[in-house]
Amino acid sequence: MDLLKFKNKKLYIDNFKLESILKKKETPFYLYSLDQIKKNIRQVKLSFKNFKPLICYAIKANSNLSILKELNKSNLGADVVSIGELKLALKAGVKPDKIVFSGVGKTDKEIKFAIQKGILSINAESRNEIELINNISKKLKKTTNIGIRINPNIKAKTNKKIATGNKVNKFGISISDFLNIIQAKKNYKNINIYLLSVHIGSQIMDIKVYKKVLNLVSKVLIKLRKLKHSINYVDLGGGMGIPYFKNDKKFNFKDFGLAVSKFYQKEKVKIIFEIGRFITGNSGLIISKIIYIKKINDRYFIILDTGMNDMARSAIYDTFHEIIPLQKSSKKFKKKIEFVGPICESSDTFGVYKNYSSLKEGEYVCITNCGAYGRTLSSNYNMRPLIEELILSNNKLKTVRLRQKIEDLI
Ligand SMILES: Cc1ncc(COP(=O)(O)O)c(C=O)c1O
Repeated sequence: MDLLKFKNKKLYIDNFKLESILKKKETPFYLYSLDQIKKNIRQVKLSFKNFKPLICYAIKANSNLSILKELNKSNLGADVVSIGELKLALKAGVKPDKIVFSGVGKTDKEIKFAIQKGILSINAESRNEIELINNISKKLKKTTNIGIRINPNIKAKTNKKIATGNKVNKFGISISDFLNIIQAKKNYKNINIYLLSVHIGSQIMDIKVYKKVLNLVSKVLIKLRKLKHSINYVDLGGGMGIPYFKNDKKFNFKDFGLAVSKFYQKEKVKIIFEIGRFITGNSGLIISKIIYIKKINDRYFIILDTGMNDMARSAIYDTFHEIIPLQKSSKKFKKKIEFVGPICESSDTFGVYKNYSSLKEGEYVCITNCGAYGRTLSSNYNMRPLIEELILSNNKLKTVRLRQKIEDLI
C-alpha cells in the first residue's frame, strides 16, 4: 500500500504513527484513510474528464455510512444490490436519480420500493424480472425507467469466483434475448428500457477485455438502432483492479479512460460506472494484535486476534493481503511463518512468509488493502462481534462504526 511508510522502524499511515492509536483502541479494528479515498476518486475523475460519466459507487465493496456520505459529497452516485443498500444510499444523501439497482434476485418488495423512490435505473437481469417490474409499475400506475444487464459471454482474467461475464455465470441475459425483449417491448407498456448494463467481474487488471466489451456493446447498439430503439445510458459496471502484491502492475486508468472516451464520442450515450474496489480497496487496513506465536515442526504460526470472520477474502478467494508489522525489527525469523486467525477453520490463514521481521507476542501488525470487500464480507462466525471502524482524515482519527457487543448477539 502506497500510503504506508516506515520512519525510524515505526509504521506510519499518511503522517500518522499507527502505534499511537493503540493506547486508545482495542484491537482488531478497521482503519480507513479518507485522504487515500479522495485521491482515488480524483484519479478516476481525471481519466474520465472527456466524458464525465456518472460514477456510482458499488456499495457492496464498503458500506460504511460515513464513507458513503463522503463519496456523496464528491458527487458519486450509488450502485446497490438490495433494499438494505438502497436505504443506506438514501440515508447517505445520494439522490435517487444517481442510484442504479443491480442483482439477479430482486424481490417484489425491493422492486416496489425502488420504483416508488424513482431511482435512475433498476437494472433487470432476466425476462421474469422485467415482467415483474412491468406488472408492479402497472399496479402503481407508473412507467418505470429500467436498464437491462447483458451477459456478453466474455471471460475476464480474474478469480473465477468473481468473474461474472461468461455465459456459464448467472448474471444478465444473452444478447439475443435482449434483442427479442426490445422487439417485444409493446408488451411491456409500463417500462421504458433506456439503459444497457454490463459488468464482467471484479479485480480485472488488463484493459484489453474492457475494449472487447466496448466493441461488443457498439455492435449491440447498431442492432438497437436497426430496431429503432434508442437508449440514453450505457452502464459499464466496475471491476477495475488494484495491486495486492508489491510488484503488481497498476490498472491503467489513463488508457482505459481514452478507450471509453472514443466509445463515448462514437456512440453519444451517457456513461455510467459502478466502481467499488478501486475507490476504497487500498484505503483500508485491519490492525491486529499477536496473541500467540506457536511453533509446529519447522513453521511458526503467528496467531492474530483477527480472523476470517473480520476479513474473509483470503479464506474465500485465496487472495494475498500483505501483512506489515507496526514496528520493524532488525532481526528476522529463520523459519517460515504463517499468519493465522483464531477461527476454527484451516482456511483462517493470511499467508506464509519467509525471512519475516522478527515478532513477539503482544506486538501489532496490519493487514493491508482491506478497504473493499473487507468489512462487508465479515460475519459473526464463532460468535465474534463485528469490529470497530475508524477513519483517518488530515491526521485526525474518528470512530465511524462501533464494535458490536457480544450481548447484542445473544
Ligand atoms: C453488478 C456489479 N457492479 C459493480 C461491482 C463492483 O465491482 P468492483 O468493486 O470490482 O469495482 C460488482 C462487483 O462485483 C457488481 O457485481
